[in-house]
Formats: sequence, structure tokens, C-alpha cells
Amino acid sequence: EKGTYAHYMLKEIDEQPIVMRNIIKNYQNENNELKLDADIRSAMKAADRIYIIAAGTSYHAGLVGKELIEKLANIPVEVHVASEFSYNTPLLSEKPLFVFISQSGETADSRAVLVKIKEMGHPALTITNVPGSTLSREADHTLHLYAGPEIAVASTKAYTAQIAVLAILAVDTANVKGIQLDFDPLQELAIVATAMETLTGQKEEIEQLARDYFETTRNAFFIGRSGDYNVSLEAALKLKEISYIQAEGFAGGELKHGTIALIEEGTPVIALATQENVNYSIRSNVQEVVARGANAMIISMKGLEEDDDSFVVPHVNELLTPLVSVIPMQLLAYYAALHRGCDVDKPRNLAKSVTVE
Ligand code: F6R
Repeated sequence: EKGTYAHYMLKEIDEQPIVMRNIIKNYQNENNELKLDADIRSAMKAADRIYIIAAGTSYHAGLVGKELIEKLANIPVEVHVASEFSYNTPLLSEKPLFVFISQSGETADSRAVLVKIKEMGHPALTITNVPGSTLSREADHTLHLYAGPEIAVASTKAYTAQIAVLAILAVDTANVKGIQLDFDPLQELAIVATAMETLTGQKEEIEQLARDYFETTRNAFFIGRSGDYNVSLEAALKLKEISYIQAEGFAGGELKHGTIALIEEGTPVIALATQENVNYSIRSNVQEVVARGANAMIISMKGLEEDDDSFVVPHVNELLTPLVSVIPMQLLAYYAALHRGCDVDKPRNLAKSVTVE
């Protein structure tokens, strides 16, 4: 039930700190150590390459998962859009492990890939919010998101839950492989949960930004580099699916190779700046678009902020910044859709789970 909330989407955005804490609780044992099944551990250890398969928002979580698994567990990862995999099947490694990311566990495009790789004899792990779902039953292993039912068509808490579980999977694999890490995911996720609470308490500020930037615009650009680029893709998807504003997520450095031609007087450009190593270069990209008339909004992170930034998210571990920077993006999309009179929870032409290929 959505209780006092006007929309499920807003309720689900607000639930994200609770979901983080549920994940922490469910993935640790009484000694505060990670608790994953032995068969998942051996599947991860045996894999020489991981193929993440997903669609939409879950695909965007997969992009963050690639970075986490490669950096922490030192296994190469490819991320594939499920609907393309059947035709553009990549050359597979000798010991592939397929990881399906799906909130519903019912996405037909992902299932088609699962059926195909099972025929080929490869192992599969499904990360899902619905343990009894088709993708969960048909895979060898399942990791649960513990996010609670997600009702709004636009996915919010499933995205952050997927990233949190991927971080846990990456660290657990590193532990099993004997890789020493200076990163305790349970502690870091607890810090994230607190940061998320701060952010969900700042709705008025974000609602005002949505008014200033999205009230009448036809289009919008989200830019970022490195980890922020992955979030810019999700930010654009959220905005377009519920507010019908044409939006694109773009790598900051790629703008000048064509897309900057679209910047006109007043075009909203939302820049994410949470990554220290690219902080200078993303800010230069902002200057480039401002010089062409863009209405720029910089969302930065505590410790990297500058005076004119529009919004600053609390500091969290650099590997986990998508978990916090996505919250203002979700809220911007929500308020943009609300102010434009759109049906937030049930956008046109969309269904919650896509069970046709
Ligand atoms: C966007 C959205 C969709 C889903 C996609 C995959 O907000 O919800 O892009 O992420 O249809 O769905 P699942 O995760 O159920 O496989």
C-alpha cells in the first residue's frame, strides 16, 4: 500500500535506506562476515569471465557491477543488453559465468538468453527481487535483492539494491580468491544508507531544481565521466520514461564529437561530478556547454564541491557513489513528471514487466 504517499514511486525512493539495511542484514552472519552460498562462491571463483545480461535500468546497474567486479575481484566482465545478445553473441571465454540482473525475474529478453546459454551448458546466476520468478527458477543460483515489492513502473529501489548486492558479490569473490581489500562493503553500505536518508530529506530543494530546469523544456542532457557516466544513463532513462522529456546520458568527453551541436540557449545539461580523478575535466565540459547557452546544473559530492554547484550529495566511498548520486536524479524525474501532469506510476506505453521479446 502506498499509505500517505501520492505515488508508489516516491514511496519506493524513500525506502532505499531501509533496503540497504535489509541487504546488510541478510548478507551477513553473526560475526559480521559476508554470508553467500558455497556454490555461488565456487561458481564465481571458477569463472574466467563474467557476462552480465539485463535490460533497461537493470542493464544500467550491470554497468556499475562491471566496475565493482573488475576492480574488487579482478575478473573481466562484459555487460550485454539482453535483446541484442542472441544476434550479437560475443565470442565466449573458456569458463564463462552468466549473471542475469532482473528486478521482476520475468523479462522475456533475458529469459531467451538464459535458455540459449543453458543449452550451451554454461552456468547462470540470477540477481532478482522475486526469488520464485522464472529467471530465478531456471538459473543455477539466485541472489535476492530484499527490496520489497516494486510497484511503480519506473524502477528506483531495485537499481540501488542491485548495485549493493553486486558490491557484496564482488567483495565476497575477492575474499574467496584471497585478494586483500581495503573495503568493507557492509560498513560502506551502512554509510550509504545514512547518506540516502539525508538525500530523501532534501526533496524541497530538488523539487525546486526540477521547476527551474524541466518545467517547459523539450530535451535535456545528463553528462558524467567514469562512474558518473553510468549514472547519467540511468538519470536520462528515468526522466524520459516518466516525464516524456527527450533525454540523453552522455560521456562528458564525447559531447564535442557531435552531440554538443544540440546545445541551444536554455538547454538543460545536468552534470554529475562525484569522481575525484575526473572532477576537473567534467567541470571543463560544463564550461563548454555553458558557453553555448546551456542551463547547467552541477551535482557534486561533499569534498569535491565548488561554490556554484546546484546540489551536493554526502560523501561515500568512490566505488559506491552511484547509490547516492542516483537519488537526486530519481527525484528530479519524479518532480518533473509531477509538474508536467504526467501519470508518474503508470507512464504511457509501458508495463512493469516486459514478458514479450
Ligand atoms: C525502467 C525500468 C525498465 C526495467 C527493464 C528490466 O525504469 O523499470 O527499464 O529495468 O524492463 O526489467 P527487469 O529488471 O524486471 O528485468
